[in-house]
Amino acid sequence: MVSRDEASKVASPTAGASNWSPTSWRARPARQMPTWPDALALKEATTELSAYPPLVFAGEARTLTRELANVVEGRAFLLQAGDCAESFTDFGADDIRDKLKVILQMAVVLTYGAGLPVVKVGRIAGQFAKPRSSPTELIGGVELPSFRGHIINDDAPNETARTPDPHRMLRAYNQSAATLNLLRAFTKGGFADLSQAHAWNQEFVASSAEGRRYENIAGEIDRALSFMSACGIDLASESTIQQVEFYTSHEALLLDYEEALTRQDSLTGDWYDCSAHLLWIGERTRQLDGAHVEFLAGVKNPIGVKLGPTTTTDEVLALCDRLNPERIAGRLMLITRLGAGKVTELLPPLIRAVTEAGHPVVWQCDPMHGNTFAADGGRKTRRFDDVLSEIRDFFAVHHAEGTWAGGVHVELTGDNVTECLGGVEDILEEDLDLRYTTTCDPRLNARQSIDLAFRVAELLRA
Ligand code: PEP
Ligand code: CO
Repeated sequence: MVSRDEASKVASPTAGASNWSPTSWRARPARQMPTWPDALALKEATTELSAYPPLVFAGEARTLTRELANVVEGRAFLLQAGDCAESFTDFGADDIRDKLKVILQMAVVLTYGAGLPVVKVGRIAGQFAKPRSSPTELIGGVELPSFRGHIINDDAPNETARTPDPHRMLRAYNQSAATLNLLRAFTKGGFADLSQAHAWNQEFVASSAEGRRYENIAGEIDRALSFMSACGIDLASESTIQQVEFYTSHEALLLDYEEALTRQDSLTGDWYDCSAHLLWIGERTRQLDGAHVEFLAGVKNPIGVKLGPTTTTDEVLALCDRLNPERIAGRLMLITRLGAGKVTELLPPLIRAVTEAGHPVVWQCDPMHGNTFAADGGRKTRRFDDVLSEIRDFFAVHHAEGTWAGGVHVELTGDNVTECLGGVEDILEEDLDLRYTTTCDPRLNARQSIDLAFRVAELLRA
């Protein structure tokens, strides 16, 4: 890995399309980017960021691409999960640990229930920038710039807090580095050992029906491990049991940040966005000639594109050609977020177009973003039943089309929040105010997440 300045001196024959560079997105229209008020401060921040070490390595991104190729081929399942928006204020070791616990629990339920390897990707260690439906919002009758995520501005409802500050990018980098450091320690240092599966069940979950169901699986895993040990298998030397591969991801929305963390791999000469293993393009920024598509077209990481209900087959084919012209399996993930009740009608034409064109893709279902609405009190929420219904229809359509329902993409937290309605404990609209702490979209709580994993495992088995 070399620095950007050094790298630009080395001409590489393999570095993406001939006229692509980490800055070529600047010549394209870029939606959803902040207007930075101070150009000098922006320059200072991005110069500093460009000199910082990469957060992830090219080799790790290549390993993830290979794992996603297994998903394309129907030999593995992808679980991508985490916050809608990470926060500078709710940041701490317990929060990271609890989120990891839930994701590991979900992965165990899926692996055990479906007998398939599960590729685990967090929306974490960089998921800060948010697209907004309007550049301003009305708060108490005052029009303020919209909150765009802690990497850009603060959520406090006043003009100063809402002014974009480029130095926040440095804080986001540092928080991401600290988060990733802890995740690496947890996943490689014993915490994620399968013999610890009981310990991931948090107290408030363990006493519930979903928690007890999970305990049964953890108990069966214990028995399987004892059996292997009795057969003479040395579990202490089995890294696949002791350690977990856990990858990071976020929406590549704030291109100033992504550009500054993009480096040329000294081994292959290819460019990688080293802010995360996997990056995706949001529903609002997937214009074919736009800056976000241009930027991600040139980096070699595995990437995703969100596809909302207005997506046409022409658009999806053009995106596949542009983002994966070499048709590398594991490079491109299509994340449909169509909304409950719309999947049966809207998904089949997209699948047929992509299949007929011969594009290898991971099909992933985001059952969250097509199902958001404002409850009576004004809180943004989602119904657990809608989330489940979108996933069910996604599986049914893929089954009918003969394609592989490759993964799910969910917003969750390890906390006992009341942000999404329903689930086994049946959170009602009047409960939303009890523990509503998200900085952006409503997340599934730990119990709802584990319940969801059991339902998805049943669908995978079927
Ligand atoms: C998100 O994933 O938080 C998001 C904003 O999604 P989408 O682009 O699908 O609306
Ligand atoms: Co969201």
